Amino acid sequence: MNICIIGTGYVGMASAIGLAELGCTVVGYDIDPARVAGLQRGEAPYREAQVDTLLARHLRRGRLRFTADHTDAVRGASLILVSVGTPARPDGAADLSALWACVEALRRSDLSACEAVVIRSTIPPGTCDAIAAALAGRAEVIYAPEFLREGSAIADFLAPDRIVVGGDRLAALVAYAKLFEPLDAPVVLTTRRNAELMKVAANVFLAMKISFANEIANLCDALGADADDVLRGVGADRRIGAAFLAPGIGFGGPCFEKDCLSLRAIAEHSRTPAELVGATLRTNESQPRRIVATAAEELGGLEGRRIAVWGLTFKAGTDDVRDSLAMRIVAELGERGATVRAHDPAVRAVTLPRQATLHAHPLDALDGADALLVLTEWPEFGRIAPHAIAAALRAGLVVDGRNVLDGERLAQAGLRYRGVGRRAERERPALPVAI
Ligand code: NAD
Ligand code: UGA
Repeated sequence: MNICIIGTGYVGMASAIGLAELGCTVVGYDIDPARVAGLQRGEAPYREAQVDTLLARHLRRGRLRFTADHTDAVRGASLILVSVGTPARPDGAADLSALWACVEALRRSDLSACEAVVIRSTIPPGTCDAIAAALAGRAEVIYAPEFLREGSAIADFLAPDRIVVGGDRLAALVAYAKLFEPLDAPVVLTTRRNAELMKVAANVFLAMKISFANEIANLCDALGADADDVLRGVGADRRIGAAFLAPGIGFGGPCFEKDCLSLRAIAEHSRTPAELVGATLRTNESQPRRIVATAAEELGGLEGRRIAVWGLTFKAGTDDVRDSLAMRIVAELGERGATVRAHDPAVRAVTLPRQATLHAHPLDALDGADALLVLTEWPEFGRIAPHAIAAALRAGLVVDGRNVLDGERLAQAGLRYRGVGRRAERERPALPVAI
């Protein structure tokens, strides 16, 4: 099967590599010539597990190639997958301009070999029906959302919980789903509109779980309970599930926030209440501010303070800082008069506010700092010796926004520890009376 992939971002690259692994011949096309040139040289455009090695392997075997020439990419392809970005517009609705630019380019192309155009980007319900109308008589249009996570994109692509395929003609859906037969995943065949809503709803539900976990963790903080224990017990119920209940600074990254905003815009547009989506977003907006407020409260203000920050990416396992709440916290610390010394194991260069500097080593970031804020859940932070942290910090405060450090060991080293709904035993508040 000859497959063309339009847009070589996280989804496009995972699809390209994953389909090459499944035996397809794949050509990747991108509007960004620098990205294409790098890919042709075998350079991964970002840090992502397995991409380097599998990219090199499939380039070498001739299963995978990249081009900046649209005609060359589309010619002879029996399936054309579209995976361009759909960021939030200022009003919250999805910006579909890149997607429509792709559709326009396809309208002008020779699609005689094409059995189906498969849209993989996350989009509002109804978008693919409009695309099908635009390509009527030229190509079948299928919607097949992707559920991978950054940091484990290839592994997720090759071990999906389900394959969702939406479209009009059953035979076309089955033919697409057959590509994934070796993965032995349940297949959901449905309409395009159902599949579109399924994708956005799944993301919003995961985001809602995180906001719920954060609310419970904040309550734990007030009540002197331990959020990790409480949420472990909650998640042990199979009806609830343990995943996506880790409290922290809130969900960041290019998808959850924009998909919540998109669903809210869709609901408003269709005059249907969607209260939980709004609440999910509000909790997520206040969560990073709580982290900053904790540091301010413990230090008696932030003006003139020097704060070390560990973690800038929106999650561990990636170098992606798009919509990272860590970056928002760094900006807020600066606005409140603090200077910031930041470190992230995956970030070598990044634009930071004027009063913030980037340091290659975690202990360098601590040098002379009053407090340490941990903002990304990199596991290596938990392996740094508490006494090394204590030796470097001036005011001895650690605010662990991801609950990755061992609070008891930090307290033994003489540090004050505040996690999210989690404190060292001796720092737990007495239970307020008259609840
Ligand atoms: P991305 O920003 O990493 O990559 C998008 C790519 O598309 C870029 O390389 C860009 O240059 C290219 N592009 C833009 N306009 C183009 C055009 N007209 N022609 C060809 N290429 C073009 O995006 P992503 O993170 O892979 O996300 C793509 C879509 O998939 C979004 O709708 C997103 O919501 C969804 N999604 C993302 C993830 C994720 O984890 N990142 C997971 C599932 C779904
Ligand atoms: C998310 C979904 O998990 C994917 O299924 C989906 O395909 C993708 O969005 C998308 O549509 O783009 P991703 O954003 O890459 O994937 O990463 P996640 O692992 O979901 O993390 C998102 C954010 O939530 C991160 O900031 C992470 O630190 C945070 N998070 C995650 C928590 O705070 N607590 C948790 O328990 C889990």
